[in-house]
Amino acid sequence: MSPSAGGLVVFLLSVQVIQSQDGWRVDYDQTGVCAAKGSRVVIFYNYTHPPGIDPSDIKDRFWFTKEKDGEPVDLRTDSEYSGRVKYECYSYSDSCYLIITDVREIDSAEYKLTLMTNKPGEKYTGSPGVTLSVTGLQVQVRRSDSTWLELTCHSSCVLSDDPEYDWYKNEEIIKTGSSLLVSSGSTDRYSCYLRGYWDHGSPAVYGPQRPSVSVSPSAEMLEGDSVTLTCSADANPAANYTWYKEHEDSPRASGQIFTITDFTAEHSGNYYCEAQNEMGRSNSTLRLITSSGKSGEFLHDRNRLINKQHLLHVYP
Ligand SMILES: *[C@@H]1O[C@H](CO)[C@@H](O)[C@H](O)[C@H]1NC(C)=O
Ligand SMILES: *[C@@H]1O[C@H](CO)[C@@H](O)[C@H](O)[C@H]1NC(C)=O
Ligand SMILES: *[C@@H]1O[C@H](CO)[C@@H](O)[C@H](O)[C@H]1NC(C)=O
Repeated sequence: MSPSAGGLVVFLLSVQVIQSQDGWRVDYDQTGVCAAKGSRVVIFYNYTHPPGIDPSDIKDRFWFTKEKDGEPVDLRTDSEYSGRVKYECYSYSDSCYLIITDVREIDSAEYKLTLMTNKPGEKYTGSPGVTLSVTGLQVQVRRSDSTWLELTCHSSCVLSDDPEYDWYKNEEIIKTGSSLLVSSGSTDRYSCYLRGYWDHGSPAVYGPQRPSVSVSPSAEMLEGDSVTLTCSADANPAANYTWYKEHEDSPRASGQIFTITDFTAEHSGNYYCEAQNEMGRSNSTLRLITSSGKSGEFLHDRNRLINKQHLLHVYP
């Protein structure tokens, strides 16, 4: 074995020995944390070092999620966490904790503690660390009966400590509890918040507002042309759309866009678009009229324009 190769082997071995050395150990109070967006996370931990090492030999200990050039990056120096992390130890015991405030979805990661001694390259990392999952809240809607809907607050992971929720209707708190009953068909906005963290709630759920309908190519339509009707309604969850012609039971089309090709007099009449989601439904009517005259009668440009403008009427 050449001297340089021998040196390399020794170096690898020494790293190996430090990583798995008996006596080094980090204990975390949990392996996984689920936290609601905007809340505060506390991870308790303690560590032990080999008897041969004096506590004053540990020159640095910090938390990290990322590495740069193979070296862990102290959370306190990461601008993403600026002002949001704190390391503390109880002075009367070996117990320490990490606090992250106002957690964000991008904070979801594995958090590990690393200990460095004053010997260059000597370090120990408590691995596996603690996996943090930051979740937003979501309101789920379930039909209770023909008039009532049950709203419940959900997160994508299981929040510890049986969470309590505040319910808001149009930005005003109306109830505390795990669920809320509301009447169907309302266009009020409902959202849930984790109790005590009023700045990070779920997106609001609400039934479709009155749809807006548009026609293309609006006044340019003549018999034989195609016309496209578009319907759009603000709603959360997103609405689905159905087109009906007045006095007909079965829908003419579903989806936001309804195209009529080869427009004829039979197509004239009232159409309505119905927007529907789990919270309710809403509709808007649109009137299509064809002139009884044939397109050959629109010879004069000016008349043509005036007549075309009467082909379509949109009214709320
Ligand atoms: C710290 O160590 C003690 C044993 O010395 C143990 O009982 C306790 O659960 C540990 N705490 C944490 C947060 O790991
Ligand atoms: C539209 O949404 C409602 C409520 O979510 C649902 O009951 C209905 O089946 C949907 N209709 C279509 C055509 O997808
Ligand atoms: C359209 O909505 C109105 C209320 O805005 C309602 O009275 C009417 O019954 C609805 N029409 C249909 C066909 O659903």
